[in-house]
Amino acid sequence: MRMRNLYRKPTALRCNAGSRCYSTSAVIWSLLGCLLLFHLYSNVHHKHGEGREVQLRVTNHPQLHELQQVEGEIIQLPPKGKRSPRAAKRRHKRVTPLVDEFLDEDSRLRHVFFPGNKSAIHPMRVTGNDSYYYYPGRIWLDTDGNPIQAHGGGILYDERSHTYYWYGEYKDGPTYHAHKRASARVDIIGVGCYSSKDLWSWKNEGIVLAAEESNVTHDLYKTNVLERPKVIYNEKIRKYVMWMHIDDANYTKASVGTAISDTPDGPFEYLGSQRPHGYESRDMTVFKDEDGVAYLIYSSEENNVLHIGPLTEDYLNVIPVMRRLFVGQRREAPAVFKHQGTYYMITSGCTGWAPNEALVHAAESILGPWETMGNPCVGGNKMFRIATFLAQSTFVLPLPGFPGSFIFMADRWNPANLRDSRYVWLPLIVEGPADHALEYSSGLPLWSRVSIYWHRKWRLPQGWSTFK
Ligand SMILES: *[C@@H]1O[C@H](CO)[C@@H](O)[C@H](O)[C@H]1NC(C)=O
Ligand SMILES: *[C@@H]1O[C@H](CO)[C@@H](O)[C@H](O)[C@H]1NC(C)=O
Ligand SMILES: *[C@@H]1O[C@H](CO)[C@@H](O)[C@H](O)[C@H]1NC(C)=O
Ligand SMILES: *[C@@H]1O[C@H](CO)[C@@H](O)[C@H](O)[C@H]1NC(C)=O
Repeated sequence: MRMRNLYRKPTALRCNAGSRCYSTSAVIWSLLGCLLLFHLYSNVHHKHGEGREVQLRVTNHPQLHELQQVEGEIIQLPPKGKRSPRAAKRRHKRVTPLVDEFLDEDSRLRHVFFPGNKSAIHPMRVTGNDSYYYYPGRIWLDTDGNPIQAHGGGILYDERSHTYYWYGEYKDGPTYHAHKRASARVDIIGVGCYSSKDLWSWKNEGIVLAAEESNVTHDLYKTNVLERPKVIYNEKIRKYVMWMHIDDANYTKASVGTAISDTPDGPFEYLGSQRPHGYESRDMTVFKDEDGVAYLIYSSEENNVLHIGPLTEDYLNVIPVMRRLFVGQRREAPAVFKHQGTYYMITSGCTGWAPNEALVHAAESILGPWETMGNPCVGGNKMFRIATFLAQSTFVLPLPGFPGSFIFMADRWNPANLRDSRYVWLPLIVEGPADHALEYSSGLPLWSRVSIYWHRKWRLPQGWSTFK
């Protein structure tokens, strides 16, 4: 209870994306682009002294600038009378016509939201100059040519093997409804793991934590729920520690589970689940800070409040310290990252599998107070932006060598066929002042602006990698 008293209500200033002035955006973004290049140049130059190579790397490759170009997206909705009756019926749910259309399995725009096999990205069979390009929403194949199964995932950079590991829900099974009012689901198969050196071609490392086939009382029994697995490495016990959302089919267990492994590619040993701090825990993530302290962030109290609290030194449990964030704002799908001492978090609203508006939050101290800055999405079109490009946040990965540059990872859920849910990866850049003056009286600095740029196709700046 002490914790509750300590909690200070964040000054939640909602900045509406729709209110942003996009008409002048081209000019502003070009300016910001130049600023960023200059900033990167000076940062890198400062760090490396004579860093001539690095300087060339930045100035010779316009991709970073390219990443900040505002790219429009015209999605021509069918005229009102021509929209399918099913989509029209959804109108009462107060989602936008674009989301209505998106949720309609029979939509004529299905191929726009879920492009077919023909346009799948096969890293071993790239054509022409398409190497290393991300195409958000297209089918993304692993190095064996199978669709990547790592939904609601996160990425661990393994310092020891200089390899990236992508963990996520392996959902390659039939989608069904457990009962009439239940939401679409796929039985637990396990946690999929993929490895990569370039963040683009991913090798399937198999299922590193598998469903329990026969023991019906086990958390991982297939008719239960395992979502949003995240892995961090603990130096003290030299284990890879996985945290994940554990639930029953009706989402009443609302717990968080842990598993450990000696190697990043598993197998992970399941340790059990709990209600952290005695509270419900649904969508969640973990964040390992630069000082080695890790935190659990979870949607709690019927998804009305986000909780954050530090883990024990071995990362296997929480300690009795917890703060309540964004009270009553119903945020989920948290993804935390840090830049120049400031903590940032992207969250989504709670609308089941349907996409909604992302918000970005910032804090000087990870336990708060946190402030809400607004919708980070840039480009596309307005309906696209207020639906997070028809996707939901899951993780934000720092791009080494380019301070302030990140990959925003999101899931474009396909509730009709969850295994065919797509990945939307986009550049996220922290740069320049936020476009809304926040309460000066709080004594907090003006936050940097966090922007997620829509691109139909994009690639990481050449030379981003610290290893070849
Ligand atoms: C795409 O290919 C997979 C096999 O890789 C197949 O199961 C699926 O039905 C195909 N989808 C379409 C729309 O053709
Ligand atoms: C990339 O390849 C396509 C055809 O494969 C070509 O039309 C296009 O001009 C190429 N772009 C660049 C930048 O080379
Ligand atoms: C089934 O799982 C439960 C919970 O993990 C465990 O306590 C029990 O021993 C297991 N039963 C068998 C037969 O393995
Ligand atoms: C889930 O809810 C349905 C309908 O209320 C009920 O029939 C079923 O037994 C519940 N399942 C679990 C695992 O609680």
